[in-house]
Amino acid sequence: MKFFVDSADVAAIAELNDLGMADGVTTNPSIILQSGRDILEVTKEICSIVSGPVSAEVVAPGAEEMIAEGRKLAGIAPNIAVKVPLTWDGLKACKVLSGEGHMVNVTLCFSVNQALIAAKAGATFISPFIGRLDDINLDGMDLIADIRQVYDNYGFETQILAASVRNVNHVAQCALVGADVMTAPPAVIRSLAHHVLTDKGLDQFMKDWAKTGQKIL
Ligand code: E4P
Repeated sequence: MKFFVDSADVAAIAELNDLGMADGVTTNPSIILQSGRDILEVTKEICSIVSGPVSAEVVAPGAEEMIAEGRKLAGIAPNIAVKVPLTWDGLKACKVLSGEGHMVNVTLCFSVNQALIAAKAGATFISPFIGRLDDINLDGMDLIADIRQVYDNYGFETQILAASVRNVNHVAQCALVGADVMTAPPAVIRSLAHHVLTDKGLDQFMKDWAKTGQKIL
């Protein structure tokens, strides 16, 4: 499963990239707001760090303007994936932009039917939002599993990009049900290394090591 970093924090992205844990990056208007930076500038900087797909989202409501915005965003770097919302206009933009050879990430997906029509419109990635479904007492992971089954039933090549990943259990479940990609904030990716028994075991090893009086270096 590929790891995308759901952030515009360039320092955090660079650290994860150096560790081989940034196969790509996803941003959205809220993430750009959080960064306090200009969308074109920060996206260009991210594209210079990460060689995989970097999603940059259009904000226009209509297909024609989305297409124009998408072309401008795609001009930032060859590894841009234009992110469009899962609306009828977004699907029109997806069809045109993917037809021009751009990667397209169709976002804000909350149902299997939405994922099905995004694939038919030529989406490179479909982004089902796990956490936001969990927030309203639905099971976001069921949606990932259902999309996996439908895409496999018909051989769709659209990659399932599990989004709105909020915790380590989401990551493990995404890998188990076969998401192609998961995108998570840097803090969630870092916390994948944590285990209480690792901390406990290391603490005991360090205490015993001190008692040996030895040094390795
Ligand atoms: C990524 O593409 C999404 O925009 C992001 O994962 C949404 O996450 P959130 O629901 O935690 O805001």
